[in-house]
Amino acid sequence: MRLTLHIWRQSGPADKGRFATYELGSVNTHMSFLEMLDVLNSELIERGEEPVVFEHDCREGICGCCGFVIDGVPHGGQRGSTVCQLHMRHFSDGDELFLEPFRAKGFPVIKDLMVDRGAFDRIMQAGGFISVRTGSAPDANAIPIAHDQVEHAMDFAECIGCGACVASCPNGAAMLFVSAKIAHLGLLPQGQPERDARALAMVEAMEREAFGACTNFRACEATCPKEISISGIARMNKDWRRALLRGGTAVSGKRK
Ligand code: FES
Repeated sequence: MRLTLHIWRQSGPADKGRFATYELGSVNTHMSFLEMLDVLNSELIERGEEPVVFEHDCREGICGCCGFVIDGVPHGGQRGSTVCQLHMRHFSDGDELFLEPFRAKGFPVIKDLMVDRGAFDRIMQAGGFISVRTGSAPDANAIPIAHDQVEHAMDFAECIGCGACVASCPNGAAMLFVSAKIAHLGLLPQGQPERDARALAMVEAMEREAFGACTNFRACEATCPKEISISGIARMNKDWRRALLRGGTAVSGKRK
């Protein structure tokens, strides 16, 4: 199959960037989208040109490293799929595709299709964990948890932190990501001791970054490759208010 690719090329954060057009004449429909870009990069290297920079790691839809915009939609618009799990059989011979990096103030472009998602790491460092005593294996049944409760927590734990929610939101909001991280721990007994401090610290860390606020467009929910529900945002707001009313504080990434 034959494709015309218009790909955003930007040599670094200070470069203005532009679209460059490439013709690819040997695309196998069994290839993943990233394998198709590997073929393009091989051809570019053979011609002595700079390969296109894009992020990836697992290529199995579980690490959250990959992600860019295809024809205006983060991850390409295949419902419930990351770009590494998107296959060329979903496209047609002769298609013309536009590839761009995630566009959001909170995710500055590093190069070509690669953006800096360090803001997500900083939010996680502020509270996306539980404190436990390590050193000995705990009894697997020490804390019984109802199956429904586990499933509900897992619905939020599925978030891979790819950032598609931010890229699709007209406000560049990161609230779907942050709420998923707060919810999956807050729904389990292990997450209860630090629940208030976690909500305060992670929301505070989110507000220090260049993200906007949620106004219920729900574009995040529609493009999330793990189909995380926007109900997590309501839950996060409730946890945050509850923590404030109970007198909790969280100062500069430290939890009390
Ligand atoms: S490369 Fe890991 S989710 Fe796509």
